[in-house]
Amino acid sequence: MIRFLLNETLVELEDIPSDTTVLDYLRGNSAYNPDRKTGTKEGCCSGDCGACTVVLAEPENDRLNYQTVNTCIALLPSLNGKQLITVEDLAAGEKLHPVQQAMVDHHGSQCGFCTPGIIMSLFAFHHEPSDQRPDVLEALGGNLCRCTGYQPIVDAAREIAEMPNTDAFSQQEQTTLQKLEQLREQQDDKAQGVYMPTSEKDLADYLLKSPNARLLAGGTDLGLEVTQQLKEIPDLVTLASVEELKELSCTENEIVIGSAVTYRQIEPLLSQYFPEFSEMLARLGSQQIRNVGTLGGNIGNASPIGDTPPVLLALDASIELRKGDRIRTLPLEQFFLGYKKTVLEESEFIARIRIPLTKHNLKVYKLSKRYGDDISTVLAAINLELNDRGEITRARVALGGMAEIPKRATACEQALIGQKADTATLEIAQQAIRSEFKPLSDVRASSDYRLQAACNLLERYFLELSGQKARIIAHA
Ligand SMILES: Cc1cc2nc3c(=O)[nH]c(=O)nc-3n(C[C@H](O)[C@H](O)[C@H](O)COP(=O)(O)OP(=O)(O)OC[C@H]3O[C@@H](n4cnc5c(N)ncnc54)[C@H](O)[C@@H]3O)c2cc1C
Ligand code: FES
Ligand code: FES
Repeated sequence: MIRFLLNETLVELEDIPSDTTVLDYLRGNSAYNPDRKTGTKEGCCSGDCGACTVVLAEPENDRLNYQTVNTCIALLPSLNGKQLITVEDLAAGEKLHPVQQAMVDHHGSQCGFCTPGIIMSLFAFHHEPSDQRPDVLEALGGNLCRCTGYQPIVDAAREIAEMPNTDAFSQQEQTTLQKLEQLREQQDDKAQGVYMPTSEKDLADYLLKSPNARLLAGGTDLGLEVTQQLKEIPDLVTLASVEELKELSCTENEIVIGSAVTYRQIEPLLSQYFPEFSEMLARLGSQQIRNVGTLGGNIGNASPIGDTPPVLLALDASIELRKGDRIRTLPLEQFFLGYKKTVLEESEFIARIRIPLTKHNLKVYKLSKRYGDDISTVLAAINLELNDRGEITRARVALGGMAEIPKRATACEQALIGQKADTATLEIAQQAIRSEFKPLSDVRASSDYRLQAACNLLERYFLELSGQKARIIAHA
């Protein structure tokens, strides 16, 4: 049974398929929820517009952590053990929540379709500890509005950024925490169409018995199979309660990231050791996506335009795979075999990702049509090591969006090794990229554009290495 708090009310779901989206459940489209809550809107149904945003609260370090989620792609097991807060829960009778009042005062709503989602993003923002609140544009980056021109919404957000948080939810926090603790103690490991293991061993054993079960981490890719491809996924296994896969650790030699750690949780550690990686993560999807999306899901999805694999390739990361009691560790480079094909065997899963803590000169360049909340057209992660004489002794050039898998440019790397990082070397290395890659043309860019972009990004790396600023050509 899936158990959660709908605001303060316990809900137990028994006979509803687990591949139902939270949005369908809330709005009553699924016929399982007679109390339709239609404040949460459906816009794109693909995680892009934020109209369907709600907040999920869960205990973290003795307090409640409030995170925005896109309900259109979130599947029901993601609610288990959490508090679901929707826009209907915010006002107390006639009195608006301070976040709602700020939006009214600044005229932040016109047609109103995006407004519930924006209110919920601002509500989560308001609940961040005041010294840790993100930039307002980042907090709103996953919410699109076609009417207001954004300025009134940003003005409302700036006012909220200055407010202390003393709302009814904060006052209720201890009671809610206790209720959620009780829920966790009563947790079931099964519901209709989903297994919810609480240990890595349970997960491994279950997958041996049910090799066709689909792993559900953040669901930001898997949910799209339900909403965009209209697939039914009758056998899910969720990683949400597998504590070992949610561990993050750092030794003298490496960072070890459990496959179910979310982007939000990884960011502080990465910004300490690999700031270029964490800067790129700030452009991976939106806040709603980063709150739940995982590295394991990004790698497991094996998309040629996944953002983290090229970076991990440039850092010589390896991945630990588990099948039953067998554990094997492979360089990430050996993981991808072809378009959406990997070395994962039946019943095998990604347990953790290991990044060595060696000296590096990593730079990550993401090109996309929109700066935020957009998939890469080309992503280049470049990491060169030079000796005292300025010769390149080690080269990693990894590219996304250039082949059917995230791929190292090995001919380019060979052309770089032993050479000085000068114009002549650059030209030869760029030529190697041109002969090594035949990217496809699609809605994002033509093949020629991608090739030119990859070569330009290598040039940009060379310029930055020598302390020069790359020449940015702005479009009129
Ligand atoms: C609006 C939107 C914007 C996005 N923007 C970006 C972007 O900018 N850059 C980018 O790279 N991606 C982007 N994505 C894609 C997605 O968010 C990422 O790929 C994310 O990392 C997937 O992680 P998840 O935990 O949600 O995976 P899930 O959806 O839960 O899983 C994805 C796939 O991996 C499998 N899987 C999950 N965990 C494991 C595991 N431990 N072992 C083996 N297989 C596993 C699942 O079965 C599934 O097939 C975006 C998606 C959306 C909806
Ligand atoms: S409806 Fe657009 S993000 Fe969910
Ligand atoms: S007010 Fe109309 S979409 Fe935002």
